[in-house]
Amino acid sequence: MKKLFNVAVVGATGLVGRTMIKILEERNFPVGNLFLLASERSAGTVISFKDTEYTVEALMPDSFEDIDIALFSAGKDVSIKYAPIAAACGCVVIDNGSFWRMHPEVPLIVPEVNPEALNNHNGIIANPNCSTIQLMVALKPIEDNFKLKRVIVSTYQSITGAGQKGIDQLTAEISGEIPQQRASKHQIAYNTVFHTVSDPDGFSEEEIKMINEPRKILSRPDLPMVVTCVRLPILGGHGESVNVETEKSFHIQQLRELLSNSPGITVIDEPLVDKFPTPLDAGGYDSVFVGRLRKDTTVDNGAYLWIVSDNVRKGAATNAVQIAELLIEKDGLDFERKELIY
Ligand code: A2P
Repeated sequence: MKKLFNVAVVGATGLVGRTMIKILEERNFPVGNLFLLASERSAGTVISFKDTEYTVEALMPDSFEDIDIALFSAGKDVSIKYAPIAAACGCVVIDNGSFWRMHPEVPLIVPEVNPEALNNHNGIIANPNCSTIQLMVALKPIEDNFKLKRVIVSTYQSITGAGQKGIDQLTAEISGEIPQQRASKHQIAYNTVFHTVSDPDGFSEEEIKMINEPRKILSRPDLPMVVTCVRLPILGGHGESVNVETEKSFHIQQLRELLSNSPGITVIDEPLVDKFPTPLDAGGYDSVFVGRLRKDTTVDNGAYLWIVSDNVRKGAATNAVQIAELLIEKDGLDFERKELIY
């Protein structure tokens, strides 16, 4: 009989948490008991999973005693405090937040890209940033076949990346109402907004994540990454305009075929008949869509790509559930309990 695992979703009432629950169901994940955890505010909320209704409970330090795998998406403070508590109970945490991602003893995983990094963990595994995940799925075959020399990325990110607050602000602004809650102090509707900047050199937190995370995932600590991130009033997924320069030469048709045959990628690239990936079309799917492939003739070996994916699914919830599946496949639920110090 198939082994079942007790699973917790921490942040179960949030946009990503609810999608995690949906994806566990869609992929028929071997769930034994399911525990839905959030703040005290939403304790008692009922959420259904596979035709059964589950009541959300308030997250407590003793919430993890009977849990094998916990999917966290409840914000940084919850991850900082509760991920080590869960791991100390023997529960493997797959954390969607940014806090643990760059810790040297925390694997940062995109299952199609660096599954081998999951072989050693101490109970906390990090899910990369949404924009990083789709970029990595598309760039891994290029790295393996032609070796990346430099990557230039500009993001066109869906406001869903700012959580429910972002969607609520956009919806209110479009309807001419005053938003009850805001994700940006600037108007989002019909505008371009930026992520929080706290770096003295002017980079946003999102840009710093997109510079550092690919380097860790590809084990290329010095890979030149040139990144600008913006949020747009769009739904469905994130777009990325990417320019790559490689060590080895390639023909654009070779690149198209390589990407078409690589895991997790769907190539839609028929510009003459107006076929290319759009964020709205990508919404609801788990694939990373690639199109608008063009040779960059300004360098010896270069190409342009347009990369789109559903940031709430593949960029967060699906990737986390895929990590859990990989963990089971690798028999990786037992780990050496060790306090991770930051
Ligand atoms: P709650 O609904 O009770 O506030 P989003 O990113 O869409 O805003 O979702 C955040 C998720 O994290 C929600 O499920 C939210 O629960 C949960 N959350 C926020 N703060 C805490 C906390 N201190 N303890 C547990 N869960 C929290």
